Amino acid sequence: MKNSPRREMVLWFVFIACFLNNAGVNGQGDNTGFVSIDCGLPEKDISSTLTRTLTYSSDAQFIDAGTNYNISAEYITPTLSPQYFNVRSFKTGIRNCYTIKYLVAGLKYLVRATFMYGNYDGLNKEVVFDLHIGVNYWKTINISDPGKTTIAEVIFVCPVDYIQVCLVNTGLGIPFISSLDLRPIKNHLYPAVNSSQSLVLVRRLNAGPTDTTIIRYPDDPYDRMWEPWSNLPYWNETNTTSYIQTSPNDLFEAPSAVLQTAVIPVNSSEIQFLWFVDPTDDKFISYVANLHFSELIQTDQKREFTITINDVPWYKHSFSPKYLYQDTIYALRPIDGFQLYKVTLAATVDSTLPPILNAVELFILLPVSAVTTDNGDVSAINAIKSSYKVTKNWNGDPCAPKTYAWDGLTCSYAVSGSPRITVLNLASNGLTGEITNAFANLTALQTLDLSHNNLTGSIPDVLSQLPSLSVLDLSGNQLNGSIPQGLLKKTKDGSLTLRIGNNMILCSNGTSCDQSTRKLNGSTMAMAIVVPIVLVVILAAVGILIIYKFKKLPASTWNPTINPQNTGHSTVAHNVDSTSIKLENRQFTYNELQQITNNFQREIGRGGFGIVYMGLLVDGTQVAVKIQSNSSTQEVNDFMVEAQHLTRIHHRNLVSLIGYCKDKNCLALVLEYMSEGTLEDHLRGGAANTRPLAWRYRIQIALESAQGLEYLHKGCNPPLIHRDVKPNNILLDAKLEAKIADFGMSKPLSSNNNTHVTTDHVVGTPGYVDPEYHMTCQLTKKSDVYSFGVVLLQMITGQPAIIKGTEPDNESMNLIQWVRERLITTSDIERVVDARMQVDYDINSVWKVADVALKCTAQSGAQRPTMTEVALQLKECIELEAAAGRNSTSNFHTANNSSTVCTCENY
Ligand SMILES: *[C@@H]1O[C@H](CO)[C@@H](O)[C@H](O)[C@H]1NC(C)=O
Ligand SMILES: *[C@@H]1O[C@H](CO)[C@@H](O)[C@H](O)[C@H]1NC(C)=O
Ligand SMILES: *[C@@H]1O[C@H](CO)[C@@H](O)[C@H](O)[C@H]1NC(C)=O
Ligand SMILES: *[C@@H]1O[C@H](CO)[C@@H](O)[C@H](O)[C@H]1NC(C)=O
Ligand SMILES: *[C@@H]1O[C@H](CO)[C@@H](O)[C@H](O)[C@H]1NC(C)=O
Ligand SMILES: *[C@@H]1O[C@H](CO)[C@@H](O)[C@H](O)[C@H]1NC(C)=O
Ligand SMILES: *[C@@H]1O[C@H](CO)[C@@H](O)[C@H](O)[C@H]1NC(C)=O
Ligand SMILES: *[C@@H]1O[C@H](CO)[C@@H](O)[C@H](O)[C@H]1NC(C)=O
Repeated sequence: MKNSPRREMVLWFVFIACFLNNAGVNGQGDNTGFVSIDCGLPEKDISSTLTRTLTYSSDAQFIDAGTNYNISAEYITPTLSPQYFNVRSFKTGIRNCYTIKYLVAGLKYLVRATFMYGNYDGLNKEVVFDLHIGVNYWKTINISDPGKTTIAEVIFVCPVDYIQVCLVNTGLGIPFISSLDLRPIKNHLYPAVNSSQSLVLVRRLNAGPTDTTIIRYPDDPYDRMWEPWSNLPYWNETNTTSYIQTSPNDLFEAPSAVLQTAVIPVNSSEIQFLWFVDPTDDKFISYVANLHFSELIQTDQKREFTITINDVPWYKHSFSPKYLYQDTIYALRPIDGFQLYKVTLAATVDSTLPPILNAVELFILLPVSAVTTDNGDVSAINAIKSSYKVTKNWNGDPCAPKTYAWDGLTCSYAVSGSPRITVLNLASNGLTGEITNAFANLTALQTLDLSHNNLTGSIPDVLSQLPSLSVLDLSGNQLNGSIPQGLLKKTKDGSLTLRIGNNMILCSNGTSCDQSTRKLNGSTMAMAIVVPIVLVVILAAVGILIIYKFKKLPASTWNPTINPQNTGHSTVAHNVDSTSIKLENRQFTYNELQQITNNFQREIGRGGFGIVYMGLLVDGTQVAVKIQSNSSTQEVNDFMVEAQHLTRIHHRNLVSLIGYCKDKNCLALVLEYMSEGTLEDHLRGGAANTRPLAWRYRIQIALESAQGLEYLHKGCNPPLIHRDVKPNNILLDAKLEAKIADFGMSKPLSSNNNTHVTTDHVVGTPGYVDPEYHMTCQLTKKSDVYSFGVVLLQMITGQPAIIKGTEPDNESMNLIQWVRERLITTSDIERVVDARMQVDYDINSVWKVADVALKCTAQSGAQRPTMTEVALQLKECIELEAAAGRNSTSNFHTANNSSTVCTCENY
């Protein structure tokens, strides 16, 4: 018998429109494990299939993106399944995903998505978009006919305990979806499906029914959809009402209802069908096909046939289906490499009956290539997403596929193993609430940036358990409390850069300070002070000259007895290591101050504001207690305003506040104790400091002071002008590290852009006051620069800012004038250098500092450098000094010919 071309049946890749209009199933049964989602249905609503055997719920709990639409009324027909009446459409976002939870990792599932455009948006446009299952491409959905339904189905092994179905906008229209089904499949079924490959359905065909009903649940316990298939008049349709047995080893469990109908060729000994590879599809496609058979006619005749694919035997034997007994022929290996596939069932020569075919399933084999992100990371980041309601493209798998990784995440993609989240950047995302512990479950995290949000509460210590965390940026929030010990420890050992500027931790709420680039280390921990919002701090008095006369006291000889029970409610200071680091700004009572100072036993300084006493906290930390003596209401008010500035300035080169006292008996400040006293003492040779400072200490102190001032000018917002820079206000700790003190006269610029602030009257210390400020009453940052220039000159010369005339009629002379005169007339730096340094300095370095100092003290503010430039120059001076080495000092007479020497022709 010859087979005519018309007898070949082509398996078209797209469903025909009528197909689902007739969707219907019969019977009732158990559907445990089914998830049936009607996409676009209002929350809490349900819908049923036409036959009411399956109930669909709203998709609201499975997705948090997209908009619901009804399809256009003209497409709603009585036979259209209600799941198509509405859609969810995704105008925004590249990838939007449904998440179905509570699955079992490693089990097999069938997932089916359906689509019917129905002109829901009134645009009547063709739409093409991609569908992903988990992190893997699944199928491209091409919708060109608004009335046609499209179905995508995949059978896969779920790698994790949830699955995500993602609609990906590929720029060819707005993705939408009508319904989404999930059906558990027994694990031994569809053996081609394993954790490394899935099957994407092409067609699932039920051959030979006389009506157009789709067979699905409950006839098919897995709710597969079998579409009717026939090819009249070339194929005769045959059926039986008898139940078709399945074998115990059956790997497909094709339902009896499907096998009960079959096709048999008319006037031919062959059944032939074809399918094509879409020529526009550039993907490599391999197919998996299952042919299901059962003999339906009880007969003595022989029905035997061969099965070939592109004329190559597919099944090596000839095949004879058994009566009312199911059998499936399937390829052990996928078939690929052709543009056209032709399957032929041909009767053998011995056969007296033509072949029979009951059902066909055709799939594309889909390799599972991408690996999902580490499960722990996924649950942690989802917890973070939900607790802050993050409104980024946070949809689907966080890291995979790489192209669609979530914004703000950086992931590491190992060759083997799951991607891990290594960087999480949620800066400026409007986050509110507390820092969730879920961050601590992102165990591969290296950088966490939560800056510039509205986070409140304290910093959780669990963050210190992140083993790889090296940058933690919490700046610009409203966090309070102290920095947890664990994090402090990490910053101490250098493994963590912690940014906490611009928080209540450090700053009052009225103003803010920018410490965004500072790495916390031991000595800067002092800035981690909790500042009460309405902190009343007594600052240096309006009286200008405050002289600390701190003396180094041997702690062993001074041992006040303090009853620890009386020292208040909280720990005053934590000793993180040998250098005591003050973490909490606390309130002291007068009684406590009495105890701390051993009843105000030892006075270490005195000024217009009152007296400074030596104090000792319970933990052994030495402190300076500044007691405000009688103060008027006006003075107290002034202090309160200025206290706002003080409490926001925390820098290693600014003296730290430990606590304060404000009750009816006392107004006092408890400050970091600076054991080496003032720079003035060291330069001018105070009684306790006979040994003059070596040059290398002087420039180090100069640099540190410059950095403190630079911070006031640049790091603080609004910037602060110190207004009283002088050696007396530069304090030194036991390591001779310098800190600027006394912000009693500091003034903020009203904003960062403002260049000056006008004051009622000029304040400052004679000899240090910027002449421009003096004339105009306009205070600028350059006023501090001027004063600092004078300090530099003092460091070089060891002279006071105003040199008193030696003769009775000699006028006093300004130090700047004094230096200029000498340098301009002789160019001999040694004429101005402090003789007490002897020759222990590098002449180039001294020249360079002198150069900086003279620039700083230029008459016009515009000509003076900024503190940043000064700090840079001083760094170079230190390098020069270090490069010179300090042992050979006799051959340094290179002042006039060395190229590194800064000359002062300009002065
Ligand atoms: C869809 O139609 C139903 C009535 O059939 C109506 O209640 C609902 O509000 C409509 N939804 C939208 C998004 O238009
Ligand atoms: C979508 O299908 C239409 C009609 O079948 C076809 O013309 C068009 O090229 C397809 N678009 C894509 C992107 O595949
Ligand atoms: C999945 O099946 C294919 C084909 O049988 C096989 O090559 C592959 O190793 C299997 N993968 C796993 C993870 O079992
Ligand atoms: C079986 O065949 C008979 C007669 O051709 C037909 O009436 C009936 O609808 C068929 N049954 C099915 C399920 O196709
Ligand atoms: C089609 O099959 C039916 C019974 O299954 C049979 O009665 C009829 O003769 C067949 N028609 C043709 C054209 O073979
Ligand atoms: C914090 O919240 C306040 C008021 O709720 C708002 O004005 C401000 O912009 C927020 N800041 C950030 C960084 O989101
Ligand atoms: C973090 O992980 C632990 C242990 O895996 C788990 O018990 C906890 O619920 C997780 N926390 C969050 C917020 O995800
Ligand atoms: C600081 O915050 C408190 C309460 O949140 C508020 O009453 C006070 O006015 C704020 N202070 C400033 C200076 O904004």
